Amino acid sequence: METPDHVMKTLLVGGAGYVGSACLRWLLKHGHDAIAYDSLLAGNAAAVPADRLVLGDLADRDLLNQTMAEHRVEAVMHFAALASVPESIQQPETYYRTNVLGTKNVLDAMVQNQVDRIVFSSTAATYGFENEMPLTEQSRQDPQVPYGRTKLAAEHMILDYARAHGLGCGLLRYFNASGADPDGEFGEDRQHETHLIPLVLQTAVGGREKFLVFGGDWETRDGTCVRDYVHTEDLAQAHQLAIEAAEPGFARAYNLGTGNGTTVFEVIQACEEVVGRKLAYEVVDSRPGDPAVLVASSEKIKKELAWKPQFAEIRQIAETAWKWHQNYPRGYADKLSSTT
Ligand code: UFG
Repeated sequence: METPDHVMKTLLVGGAGYVGSACLRWLLKHGHDAIAYDSLLAGNAAAVPADRLVLGDLADRDLLNQTMAEHRVEAVMHFAALASVPESIQQPETYYRTNVLGTKNVLDAMVQNQVDRIVFSSTAATYGFENEMPLTEQSRQDPQVPYGRTKLAAEHMILDYARAHGLGCGLLRYFNASGADPDGEFGEDRQHETHLIPLVLQTAVGGREKFLVFGGDWETRDGTCVRDYVHTEDLAQAHQLAIEAAEPGFARAYNLGTGNGTTVFEVIQACEEVVGRKLAYEVVDSRPGDPAVLVASSEKIKKELAWKPQFAEIRQIAETAWKWHQNYPRGYADKLSSTT
């Protein structure tokens, strides 16, 4: 555990991405020392302070080693991964290379540098589709898509390394990461956006004519898919709690969601309310690999680590995301041009 005279230094692999950069800002705000290691293939340089970024690839084992040694890293948060379900169905080889071999590179560098704490970004996609809702950590892990299988493989690898090399590990299974920095300065910005809330709000700021709703005849209360949207600030709080708890021998998995299931139409309605007008969309066929319902029970992390999510309502998530999209309609490209 942290003591007042010792500030833990954490390396955030993938720390310039959407969730990673939110965690970096959170850690710095809450008395930790932290740096990001990111290739910027999916991450954004403008999402992290320039003096906190090491530019490097997950495949670069030497640079990972060197970074951990030079910066006297004591703990790792591993966010770097490919995370699109449809893409993972089309290109499993890329997903196994990045998500499985990439995790091995991080673990090998940790062992070489005697770094003994890791918090890993896992996912609801590691659970099977047949489970009852809400999902607990005891629900059956039986991933139905390559993305989920690569994340489950990485979970097992981390647990095996932890046992063999005396690491402490926290496996955090995110549900739908969403929302933006409450000041509206940082948020979701990907080259090829596939996530619902940014697509809806990009439509609102005029970057798109309309968005698509994947499937209108699911067996749910309004025919659209149900998901558990969890704010990045709340994910960040959970990462801090998990890294502080991850002493050697600690090996726990935690679900991270609010426990509230929200349909696609309810997300759209919350977005329309914060935007103040109706938005154009079209209901089309369902997307391959989508389950009808994913809702978390996060009682375990609330009980064991005293996690207290602050953004339980979809409206709060939509409000923060809307602030970001309004401030920076073209995302970090606008942020860069406003600061130069
Ligand atoms: N959706 C649409 N239209 C879009 C995009 C999404 O209707 O243009 C729907 C999806 O079908 C889904 C919901 O909105 O029902 C949310 O979709 P996202 O793409 O935002 O997120 P996912 O639920 O697909 O993804 C999440 C995590 C993944 C995880 C996956 C498990 O982000 O890491 O759940 O299925 F793998």
